[in-house]
Amino acid sequence: MKHSAVLNMDIEQGIINKNIYGHFAEHLGRCIYEGIWVGEDSPIPNEKGIRTDVLEALKKIQIPVLRWPGGCFADEYHWKDGIGPRENRKRMVNTHWGGVVENNHFGTHEFMMLCEMLECEPYICGNVGSGTVQEMSEWVEYMTFKGESPMADWRRENGRDEPWKLTYFGVGNENWGCGGNMRPEYYSDLYRRYQTYVRNYDGNQIYKIAGGANVADYNWTEVLMRESARFMDGLSLHYYTIPGEFWTGKGAATGFPEHEWVATMKKALHMDELLTKHSTVIDKYDPEKKVAIIVDEWGTWFDVEPGTNPGFLYQQNTIRDALVASIHFHIFHEHHERVQMTNIAQTVNVLQAMILTEGSEMILTPTYHVFDMFKVHHDAVKLSLDVQAEEYESMPQVSMSASKNKKGHIHISLCNIDHQNETDVTVDLRGLAVENLHVAGTILSAQQMDAHNTFEQPEAVKPKTFGAYSLDGTSLQVNMPAMSIVVLELKTN
Ligand code: AHR
Repeated sequence: MKHSAVLNMDIEQGIINKNIYGHFAEHLGRCIYEGIWVGEDSPIPNEKGIRTDVLEALKKIQIPVLRWPGGCFADEYHWKDGIGPRENRKRMVNTHWGGVVENNHFGTHEFMMLCEMLECEPYICGNVGSGTVQEMSEWVEYMTFKGESPMADWRRENGRDEPWKLTYFGVGNENWGCGGNMRPEYYSDLYRRYQTYVRNYDGNQIYKIAGGANVADYNWTEVLMRESARFMDGLSLHYYTIPGEFWTGKGAATGFPEHEWVATMKKALHMDELLTKHSTVIDKYDPEKKVAIIVDEWGTWFDVEPGTNPGFLYQQNTIRDALVASIHFHIFHEHHERVQMTNIAQTVNVLQAMILTEGSEMILTPTYHVFDMFKVHHDAVKLSLDVQAEEYESMPQVSMSASKNKKGHIHISLCNIDHQNETDVTVDLRGLAVENLHVAGTILSAQQMDAHNTFEQPEAVKPKTFGAYSLDGTSLQVNMPAMSIVVLELKTN
């Protein structure tokens, strides 16, 4: 089977916002507690309470933006419970996620500190479902007001003199569901009201994100855009890749049959249709593309690992997840004009995680490695790439994307979603001189559909140097093994 592509190295199509490679960490299961926060007194090595191994791993993939505290948790979260001396913080029940006690030890100061350590932008989601306008307004004042004010003074009493820089703020989460079961008309009005009091203090400019649609609810997008577009910078969208049915059996993360591999790929590719259709609705009200689509929850959602708390959403992560991630990134690149941020759910120990932990141990998942390999696309210029792919189970077998970074180096990412067959891709390099072109490659692939890393075998799936390519004049030939992801670097010096 052959696939061909023309890479127009001289046709630049705009910037791939690095925030497309964003993350999401909710107070859910073992994501925050155990996964990120262990506390200063923990025997697990930590920096001011944040576990060191996870911190270092996340630094390596250059997380650009981190969304917190939810998710469904956000519309139950009262930020004032999570500040001040930790021993005095109010304990609550996390009713959404497992009914466990939330001790509020990880609050605003700890989250902002984490973002500073990671050198990433914070993206905070405020509480519309069960919180007040005053509470949301005061949170923003607490975080960003510089001078003398009740909230800024309180922040100083709690040990933080300077305000934090906060750009991204979400006004509620899934307000059609766990965030209040609202109709779009009602939420739209509430959005207008709540966002009014999300103020820009002292030059801090908030980028306001309205709670968007669930999957293909185009009416939600229509109503929000019609009624509230002028009050927002971004509108969110949530879509999870679930091979089975949400309530009756999503499918297992490992040990799944072939048809679930195929179904997973189909469902992942569905993101393209969703973005196209939501964009069409948005275009009607915003032809100048001022309102971005923020896909602030996406990723695989399987049945939880047997024996684990069903409310903790803990699942293994295989080469199938890695392909789902690369398919998504290629789709997000295609929609780069409208899609300005996405946040995979979730960073550690929950859903399609980058990292899994068990006590003091940590492993990196195949998805982590995709984030690592694809970081070359962060803020790079998207190049025109015309792909002619053969079919596999009525889907394009190969997907690709290319970009040029500030140094002029070109990166092409490719993935072969066929679980059985290798394939050849011919890329015609046009538009620039190709003399003295050096090519280098990295590959992530596996022999089994559910190949994954375990605490016993933490490096079963990891990137390797890739050499199955050849360059003949302007023709670049790439041989892609089954179930593989390749990133090629092309440079002239
Ligand atoms: O990511 C898990 C949950 O999925 C989030 O809390 C919620 O927003 C979505 O339904």
